[in-house]
Amino acid sequence: MQSILQFPGKIIFGENTIDQLGENVVEYGNKCLLVTGQKSTRQSGALQRAVESLKEKGIESLCFSKVKGEPDCAIVDEVRALAEKEKVDFLIALGGGSALDTAKAAAGLIGQDLPTVDYLNKAPFEYKGIPFIAIPPTSGTGSEITLNSVLYNPVTGNKKSIAHPCFQARFSIVDPTLTYSMSPELTAITGMDALTHVVESYTSLKANEVTKVLALKAIKIITVNLVETVKNKNNIEGRKMMAWGSMIAGMAFAQTGVGVAHSISHPLGALFQIPHGLACAILLPVVIDYNSQVCMEKYQEIVDELGYKGEFSAYLRKMIKQLPLPQTLTEAGYKEGQEEQIVTATFDTRSIKNNPRMVEEKDVRAILEKCV
Ligand SMILES: [Fe+2]
Repeated sequence: MQSILQFPGKIIFGENTIDQLGENVVEYGNKCLLVTGQKSTRQSGALQRAVESLKEKGIESLCFSKVKGEPDCAIVDEVRALAEKEKVDFLIALGGGSALDTAKAAAGLIGQDLPTVDYLNKAPFEYKGIPFIAIPPTSGTGSEITLNSVLYNPVTGNKKSIAHPCFQARFSIVDPTLTYSMSPELTAITGMDALTHVVESYTSLKANEVTKVLALKAIKIITVNLVETVKNKNNIEGRKMMAWGSMIAGMAFAQTGVGVAHSISHPLGALFQIPHGLACAILLPVVIDYNSQVCMEKYQEIVDELGYKGEFSAYLRKMIKQLPLPQTLTEAGYKEGQEEQIVTATFDTRSIKNNPRMVEEKDVRAILEKCV
């Protein structure tokens, strides 16, 4: 068996490090495209700080600020076309998972002839992309570390992941001050996404000694800090720790992939617009119960690390109840009647192959039933 560990070229972590953007990207050229969401980075001042830092180093920046939740292949095509037309040297994503995944796929697919949807459907390609720089203002997706981009395909009505070793960010800035403006709900949702990444990484069939150390550390950081950070928006130390935890989680699951909670969360997002981290929060304890038959020892290692005397799923249920989130899929917007589509889409993800316990169609249905 071999283990490959791959991380971004450079990661800068720390308060106000966004102001160091310009000096760290000057080596990639003098014209870039900044990809961001519609409002929050502008309102928080993060976008202006990024543009200012680039300007100081003589780097021209264009801004594409049309990314919404659940990015699809068409928006990636739009960013690719703009970047090619403007002949930018590199792409910077400043935003949550949607902005990062859009820019990551666009930067990686520049120079290719086919539309993005073909590559999402596994068309082979030889990488000719441009550098991708990631700056997440939330603590959760880990997209600043990973090799993949999750996109919505409106033709199939499903979300799928497109990945390539060269898609990984050339450079990432993780600045906890950018997360200060997150609402309690968004803090909870993104935090639960990060936690699901590491729990599924810890038990992944691809886990190795390095990823297990990273995952266990991230599980502890996130579980210790999430509830308090959600309750107190001004908990600066908690914000910093959540940013650390999410980043370390990204380092672990970028190597191992995730599991069946993620596989099921994608069609729930595509069909019912249930935010990804929320779907993960509802699915995770049920998936842990399902997997415990084959990884009891690993869950025991986790509760030992947390100093908890009891089952890991019970610990999580108690924790999730304290978060300002819907506690069932039905409360989150799920409607019965599309189970077949969910099951099919679940098996069309990479994550399911990493799940420690073999999953059959009836198991997906049973997990869903326990979450509605
Ligand atoms: Fe996730």
